[in-house]
Parts: sequence; C-alpha cells; structure tokens
Amino acid sequence: MSSISTTAETDVAQQLARLRQEQARLSAQLYAGDSNFRHLARSVWRVQEDERRRLARELHDGVGQNLTALGHRLQSMAARHAPGSPPPDLAQAIALCESALAETRALSRLLRPQILDDLGLEAALRWLARSTGEAAGITIEVEVGELPADIDGEVATALFRVAQESLANASKQARSSHVLVRLAQHDQRLVLLVVDDGVGCVADDALASASKGQSTGLAAMRERLRLFGGRFHFDSRPGEGARVRAEIPLAPPERAP
Ligand SMILES: Nc1ncnc2c1ncn2[C@@H]1O[C@H](COP(=O)(O)OP(=O)(O)OP(=O)(O)O)[C@@H](O)[C@H]1O
Ligand SMILES: [Mg+2]
Repeated sequence: MSSISTTAETDVAQQLARLRQEQARLSAQLYAGDSNFRHLARSVWRVQEDERRRLARELHDGVGQNLTALGHRLQSMAARHAPGSPPPDLAQAIALCESALAETRALSRLLRPQILDDLGLEAALRWLARSTGEAAGITIEVEVGELPADIDGEVATALFRVAQESLANASKQARSSHVLVRLAQHDQRLVLLVVDDGVGCVADDALASASKGQSTGLAAMRERLRLFGGRFHFDSRPGEGARVRAEIPLAPPERAP
C-alpha cells in the first residue's frame, strides 16, 4: 500500500515538475513576444519621428526659403512706390506672403521643433509653453528641476510629445486659463506633470473612450510611455481641472538595436 502511494506521489511530483517547466517555457515565450513587440513599436515611433524631422526641415528650408525670397521681391517692388503707399494689391500680396511664411514655420515646428534636437528637452518645453500660451492666450508656467545632462533622445521626445498633447488638451478641450508644467528627476526616472485649471472631465470615461479608440491623444501618451517602461496617469473631475503625470526611466529598457 505504502509503495503504491509512494509511486503515485512520485508521478504527481514528476507531473508538477513538467508543468513548472512548461510554464517557465511559455512565460519566456510570452516575455520574448512582448519584448519583440516593444522593439517593433518603438521602431515605428522612431521612423515616425524621423519622418516628421525630415518634413519639418523640408518645410522650413524649402517652402519657407521660397516664401522668404518672394517676400523680399514683393518688398522691393513696394519700395519703388512712394514710401508707405504701395498699390493695394501689392500690399495684400505682402501680407499674404507673410502669413503663409508664419504658418509654414509654425507647422514645421509643430511637426518637430529643431530646438528639441539642438538644445534639449528643457529648452523645448519652455519654447512649447511660450508658443502654446501665446497662441491660446493662456498662462503656462514651466518649472524644471536639476536634470542629467545626457537625456536619451527618445526619452526626451516621448516626454515632449506628452507635454505637447497635454497642453493641446488643456488649451482646447479644457479652456484653461493657467497651466503648470513641471519636469524633475526622481531616482532614475524623469517625471513630467501638466496641471491645468480648466473645465475638467470624468477621467475614467475619458480613458475608457481613449481605450476604445474614440480619441488618440490620451491613448497615444499612455502607449508611448508603456513602450519605454514608463507610466501614465490622468486625473480629472468636472469643474476641477486635470492633471497628467508621466514617468519614464532615464535609460529605456531593452533598447532596440
Ligand atoms: N485637460 C483636460 N481637461 C478636460 N478634459 C480633458 C483633458 N484632457 C482630455 N480631456 C477629455 O478626454 C477626452 C480624450 O482626450 P484625447 O486627447 O484622447 O482626445 P481629443 O483631444 O478629444 O482628440 P485627439 O485624438 O485629437 O487628441 C477629450 O475629448 C476630453 O473630453
Ligand atoms: Mg487630445
């Protein structure tokens, strides 16, 4: 009797060991699949940013330069007339050319601000706050703590895009009058906060509709941070403004080759 039960116990132990092995194999497969997916998704973001950078440059150096040259031509035509009195058609053409140039430059910066590559995240956030604030007629304050000198380019881009989308939401959706943008390092992570005093919303409803694909802003921020091993929080209540908190490790995990 006792030898039968010993054999049964051995069988169960062997089966358990096999199950454990199988579980470890499946977990490893799952982890490898997830890691491959992250690499792939990060490559997609990278290609998108490269393409935006290229388009931004072409707009600035191509269309922008041509409009600048056209503006100079029109100005010199106007200068041939009595000072301050070019023909109305010419004055209109000059105004049109100036606004087309301003729009081209704004579009180029929106696609990918050169300042992010040249001067880094803090300068880019200050520029973004100033230009968004001026365009929307709201006050955007920026507070930046002590930051490491060599922030990874993709980490900087991810946080910049979060700030850009959050400020767009704060000015357009929330109709805020005051927004605070705060960036600081905590341990080995960068933490970005965007707090507005706008109309607010039911945060869970906004996140649920973003998950269902009914909007892209919140979902894209959350997904991008997840891919970089970071976290995204969105808190809001009607009438009480909104608060975005984005956390991202300084060194992105499993950097894609
Ligand atoms: N700062 C905010 N204040 C109040 N409501 C907000 C704020 N941010 C987001 N929301 C709510 O969450 C919804 C989803 O935001 P999300 O950014 O995903 O989409 P969207 O701004 O409507 O469109 P888009 O896809 O162009 O970003 C918004 O429509 C709005 O109702
Ligand atoms: Mg949005």
